[in-house]
Amino acid sequence: MSNILDDKLKAALASREERWIRRRLPDPIPSSSASSSSSPSTPILIDFNSNDYLSLSSSPRLRSHFLQKLSRAPDILGSGGSRLLVNGQAHHDLESRLSKFFNSPAALLFNSGFDANVGFFSCIPQQGDVVVYDEYVHASVHDGVRASRVRKEDRVGFRHNCVESLRVVLGRVKHNWERHSGTRTKKNSVFIAVESLYSMDGTFAPLQEIVEVMEDVFPAGNIHLVVDEAHSTGIYGDKGKGRVAMLGLEEKVLARLHTFGKALAATGAVILTSVLIRDYLLNYARSLIYTTSLNYANIIAADASFDMLEDGTAEQAASKLLNLSLYLIQQLQTRLSTFPERLISLPHHLKSLPPLSRYSHPQLHSLPLSPIIPIMTSHPRPLSSYLLALGMNARPITWPTVPKGKDRIRVCLHTGNTKEDLDRLVEGVVRWANEVLDAGEVEVGMVGGGRETGTGATLVASKL
Ligand SMILES: Cc1ncc(COP(=O)(O)O)c(C=O)c1O
Repeated sequence: MSNILDDKLKAALASREERWIRRRLPDPIPSSSASSSSSPSTPILIDFNSNDYLSLSSSPRLRSHFLQKLSRAPDILGSGGSRLLVNGQAHHDLESRLSKFFNSPAALLFNSGFDANVGFFSCIPQQGDVVVYDEYVHASVHDGVRASRVRKEDRVGFRHNCVESLRVVLGRVKHNWERHSGTRTKKNSVFIAVESLYSMDGTFAPLQEIVEVMEDVFPAGNIHLVVDEAHSTGIYGDKGKGRVAMLGLEEKVLARLHTFGKALAATGAVILTSVLIRDYLLNYARSLIYTTSLNYANIIAADASFDMLEDGTAEQAASKLLNLSLYLIQQLQTRLSTFPERLISLPHHLKSLPPLSRYSHPQLHSLPLSPIIPIMTSHPRPLSSYLLALGMNARPITWPTVPKGKDRIRVCLHTGNTKEDLDRLVEGVVRWANEVLDAGEVEVGMVGGGRETGTGATLVASKL
């Protein structure tokens, strides 16, 4: 057999290796349920990595509630086929429940958030329409838009969370449309794609301001906002309904995406939208039509998690989570301020908050606190390895997942973390930074996917 294909694939992987961006699966981590029986040589890591923000995956209450529901359910295995062929009662019931819970005219389940974004953006924007997206929006939105009939020049990014940049982009779209004697203004629509909480930065979309700019530039209303709430679901708003609901913007948003795989400890996703769009998706969204729908056990798991939202469990867990976030930011603000910025620092949006100790308690709850706290460093891999050796799992995030020069370790907090866990994290980060500085070999100015081999950072990481 020819080696042509193998050679090309190997060359691509080698090139990634060379540029220090080759992806690999992390080593398997023993599950928490196996913790008591795991050997001393496989210590349980403190989780600063998963998206299980509310620690529901290890909640004994949710576990027994789910098992009870499962044992009572008429169907639990498989789902039998595509939603279009086999419309399970459980699927139908969950959609009805979610449209009521989220106060939406209609709800449509997808197998994942990825499938939902691809399904939506590949078919709802029509030929001649424009999609304007935040530069940090999720890969699934890009994949959807690429598969759509929207022309390449009609897919336009704006600067992350920058309302002024959005205004400029929309102004340009409007100007171009008017040059065509206004016919496009009368015939076409603009879609804006944002996330309510960005997964790599822990920043919030200024949804209210975005709506104001949209209405200002396109007062005729042929402009539509689509909000991905993957990382906000369960944490923000009344009973964890998300940030659109928290801000009372349900009527201003064409579609919302809530995923079940993160804070809800389940799998799958729902798009909340109009009856018409739901119907259109059922007819044109290929990621919904040509796939086996979520199996019954998945539906029961998601339903059990929504019980935790409805009974207030999630709100309590979220409050604890955001207090942990506040505590960690306070510690990092103080402890990282003396290090060179390129070596280790908080991102601008967390550094620029006045020291949090100056806020009174009620004011704290209006702060933009999230469970996602990036710690910026030009040496994310050595820092992550160092923390791993100390029993903490905080992953390095590098280009191409984030822009060049914005490497970091991303700390994801969970309700199940303790203040002692956070103290340990802060101590570990500070100790690493001091050791790197003491080693004196590190080029603190180095950025991006630069190879760290031979630098003080690697030496410090490998000493452990
Ligand atoms: C913002 C955002 N949207 C969508 C998705 C996809 O969701 P799912 O994991 O359910 O496929 C993710 C997951 O990484 C995400 O972070």
